[in-house]
Amino acid sequence: MNWIKQFSLENQVAVVTGAAGGLGRELVKILFDAGAYLVLADTDEASLRLLLQATDPSGERVRIQQCDVTNEQDILFLIEQTNNHFKRIDVLVNCAGVLGSDAALFDQTAEDWDRVFDVNLKGSWMAATHISQYMVAQHIKGRIINISSSLGLRAQLKRVPYASSKAAVEHLTRNMAMELVQYQIRVNCLAPGWMNTPMVEGILNGPNGKNWRAAIPMGRAAEPSELAGPLLLLASTASSYMTGTVLRVDGGYAYCGIELPE
Ligand SMILES: NC(=O)c1ccc[n+]([C@@H]2O[C@H](COP(=O)([O-])OP(=O)(O)OC[C@H]3O[C@@H](n4cnc5c(N)ncnc54)[C@H](O)[C@@H]3O)[C@@H](O)[C@H]2O)c1
Repeated sequence: MNWIKQFSLENQVAVVTGAAGGLGRELVKILFDAGAYLVLADTDEASLRLLLQATDPSGERVRIQQCDVTNEQDILFLIEQTNNHFKRIDVLVNCAGVLGSDAALFDQTAEDWDRVFDVNLKGSWMAATHISQYMVAQHIKGRIINISSSLGLRAQLKRVPYASSKAAVEHLTRNMAMELVQYQIRVNCLAPGWMNTPMVEGILNGPNGKNWRAAIPMGRAAEPSELAGPLLLLASTASSYMTGTVLRVDGGYAYCGIELPE
């Protein structure tokens, strides 16, 4: 048996939301290298165009589609366009996400809370629901991958809406997995920690960067390429008996508490 072949995405179609972001673009590269056809969705069309040029200038295997995941019509149009072009969707990666403001509890606003939950939770739910419905209609044994964070499990100061939304994304994963198991559609979650992407590089290279790095058991942030194994596992048939799982890829960050002095 050639076990490595299980990880291939050849002839598979994957939709990635938030594709133009720091992490999204890295996930796109990994899925492309694994052989997938891709539809890249994001609100930021200019960045999508640049990403298309960098990934697949011929446009043979990659399409882009402007899409706001908080807008149901946008999601339905994304599905329609993907179906018109590639005729199927095997994998959805829900990577669109926002961090929200860097504010202590009493400084947080209801607007910020709504924005973070709208994109991170409602957007993931809405894309996954419509795309899984499409998969059922097409008899596709699809895979849905939600993106959480170490903060879906551990608490951190000034991140109440973000961390709460990511905890909810993890439970969304478990609940959707149970709903969709009857259709052989699997729903899993990837929970990265500190990644070397623009979203967190500013913090890691800032005045407190050394302290942040010291709080990571492995002592460093991850290169986005270190998500390749876990992503391809969840996106491919190599994980055929996994559903409802949260896979943490964070150098142990979610499990490490603050060390108290002796
Ligand atoms: N970068 C990290 O270290 C890290 C760590 C853990 C988890 N994550 C998670 O990974 C995901 C991506 O993070 P990132 O670092 O790429 O962030 P990023 O800010 O670089 O990218 C997010 C992307 O999502 C897009 N987006 C925002 N709102 C959208 C909407 N309503 N509809 C469609 N697209 C929208 C943005 O245009 C952007 O391209 C997020 O869910 C984040 O919480 C990131």
